[in-house]
Amino acid sequence: MIRTAAELPAQTQALYERVRSVVPRLEWDLMAPTIAAINRLKVEKNAVILAHNYQTPEIFHCVADLVGDSLALAQQAARTTADTIVLCGVHFMAETAKIQNPEKTVLIPDLKAGCSLAESITAEDVRALRRQVPGVPVVTYVNTSAEVKAESDVCCTSANAVEVVESLGVPRVLCIPDEYLAQYVATQTKVEIIPWKGHCMVHEQFTPEQVRAYREQFPGLTVLAHPECPPEVLAEADLVGSTSRMVRFVHEEKPRRVALITECSMSDNIAAECPEVEFVRPCTLCPHMKKITLQKIYESLLHNRFEVEVEPEVARRARLAIDRMLAVGRGTRHG
Ligand code: 13P
Ligand code: SF4
Repeated sequence: MIRTAAELPAQTQALYERVRSVVPRLEWDLMAPTIAAINRLKVEKNAVILAHNYQTPEIFHCVADLVGDSLALAQQAARTTADTIVLCGVHFMAETAKIQNPEKTVLIPDLKAGCSLAESITAEDVRALRRQVPGVPVVTYVNTSAEVKAESDVCCTSANAVEVVESLGVPRVLCIPDEYLAQYVATQTKVEIIPWKGHCMVHEQFTPEQVRAYREQFPGLTVLAHPECPPEVLAEADLVGSTSRMVRFVHEEKPRRVALITECSMSDNIAAECPEVEFVRPCTLCPHMKKITLQKIYESLLHNRFEVEVEPEVARRARLAIDRMLAVGRGTRHG
């Protein structure tokens, strides 16, 4: 049973302190009962909630146990001792968690939370690429289906792509499916990179003109951009990095004014912890990430839905590619 905000334990009221600068009080009063119910159910079911940096602040700061970028979520999914994992992110992230934990229940609150990059390539496309350039290893961004991972030599994320490519010790690699990430990696290594033509529907929207206009309007602005953005946008940025690299930069450097050229919940989540930093917020939402809501998380825990399954032989082969990535380590130099 979900109680009203006034009946909630002090613990839930205290959670409001984490988000008060980004969540209006009126909205909090509506959310708080569901937050309390989720946190109770989590304990009852020995469940853990993993949330990507693009989840909204009430999910990220008030119900998630573990948060981070795609690499951190893959690492944490490999270590958890909970019986159930609720993945607040998109479907490929939940599949990665299931591949790492075949014996656990992995839930995603909305099965339609997909990804334009994951949709841009199929397992048959990878087999065809291998026929075109035989002997060239395939480095696959984690933003792909389990079937595509299963056809790959090794996975990467935006935090470790350069390290993964260089770890192979070969002159040429296929870097799929994000064309812009591949082009960015090519600027950071001597290894020849063969890209695919996939794009992120969120990051491909940014333009260099937009970044220049922010700089003109907000003097002293620091611009951080995600490598899924087009190269002309990255050329305008002060730093290019994964979502976790951006989080680290803002916490450590405390820039006076910052624009994060990425999905817009990132700014809210960091702003909640860094009130002294002024955020210029391009509001570019990922419609897939935004399919996850408090109500759906509650129902997911209550009814054990929607369970993510990966066919065992596909999972076995995909796990090899993920494990090879995890063995390379954290993207310290570029991520
Ligand atoms: P990272 O959090 O790994 O940088 O990825 C961004 C993204 O688009 C995930 O869908
Ligand atoms: Fe996919 Fe882009 Fe959304 Fe990330 S932000 S889930 S890459 S569509």
